[in-house]
Parts: sequence; C-alpha cells; structure tokens
Amino acid sequence: MRLDFFTLFPAWFDWFVGQRHVQNVVRDGTRIEFFNYRESTPLSAGQVDDAPYGGGAGMVLRVDVVDAALQAAYADRARPRVVVLAPTGRQFDESLAVELAAEPHLTLLCGRYEGFDERIVDHLADDAISIGRYVLSGGEPAAMVVADAVLRKLPGALGHPDGAAEESFSAALDGAPEYPHYTRPPNYRGWKVPDVLLSGDHERVREWRIERSRRRAASSR
Ligand code: ADE
Repeated sequence: MRLDFFTLFPAWFDWFVGQRHVQNVVRDGTRIEFFNYRESTPLSAGQVDDAPYGGGAGMVLRVDVVDAALQAAYADRARPRVVVLAPTGRQFDESLAVELAAEPHLTLLCGRYEGFDERIVDHLADDAISIGRYVLSGGEPAAMVVADAVLRKLPGALGHPDGAAEESFSAALDGAPEYPHYTRPPNYRGWKVPDVLLSGDHERVREWRIERSRRRAASSR
C-alpha cells in the first residue's frame, strides 16, 4: 500500500511514523509520504487559505491550492483514493477501515482553520470522513486515527498473523465488540477472573466469549 498525507503541519506525524506497527508495515513495503500544501501553492507568499464568501469567522483552505498540491504529487498519473478529513464527513468505522486497507494507494487530506472549500470535497476527493461528532483544531489527529486503524489491518503490522482477525467489530465477531480479557493474577482484591477462563476447556471458553461479545453488542445499542 501507499499512504499519502497532505498537511500544513507534517511535524504532527513525526511520532506516529515511529510507532512499531507503522514501522512494521513500512519494512514490509508500505510507502508513506507527506506533502505540504504550502510547498506547492500557486499563490504568493505561501498563501493557502482565504476568508469565506458570505463572511464569518476563520479561514478556508483554497480549492486551487489543494488542486495544485494534488497535481504536483500525481501529475497525470493514476489518482489514488482521495479522502478529506472533516467533521461533516461520513462517520469512520471498522468496515470503512477494512475498505480503505484494501486500497493500493490512499491519500488523506488534512484541513485547518474553518476547513475546506466545499469544491475540494465535491471535485477533488472521493470521500469526506469524520472520526466523530466533535471539531478538532485540524485534520491531522483525525488522519492519524484513520491511518492507525487502516495500517494495523495490513499483514505484518502487529507482529503476529492473527493480530486483527478476531477483535472488536471484525467479521469474525459478526461486527460486535470484542469479549473482555483478563490476565494474572486470577484474584486481585477479591476481583476474580471468571472461572470458565481458568477451566482449560477451549470449547466453553469460546462459547463464553461469543456470548459476552453479543451481550456487549446488545448493551451498546
Ligand atoms: N477535522 C476537524 N474535526 C474533525 C473530525 N471530527 N473528524 C475528521 N476531521 C476533522
């Protein structure tokens, strides 16, 4: 996979790219690139934004600036799947993470200020994605959330083959939240690990886990 971030603040990602699962997929061939809108802006003095038509607070990322950044990165080559991070976008979830992880080339556009000129969403991007119904100061943390959920699906990310197979919201659990986990000690201050998990009976453990996963799904509805 190739994953590109477009941002005004690439330094936000310095910590992210150093994380183990990200390094694992990079070692296995995933390519991660960063593009700064300011480096390809066609406007003087590095301008990237402008006041909104109709008035209002804040500045809006310009469509010509984002178009120029995409042109500079891809020219006439095949366009990747381009995703805008915006609080007004489609809600990000596990099935969208699975879908994006299957893309050979994914581009995440981070906005700042009041957000994007809507023509970016309408004409330059394939989707707008929100990570939740709240407003962040920029798209960078949202892009990292999406990238994290996507990259950990790639083979080798977690360092063991079944890493992401049976976890919350996966097909293996019919989309339900994962069952609870426990580890040693078996009794801590009277808080006991369920007996079934100590029984060594794999079939009973499996049934218990499925039941607890379904119970969690029902209580979160
Ligand atoms: N940019 C600002 N807030 C956001 C959110 N909740 N999701 C995605 N991108 C954002």
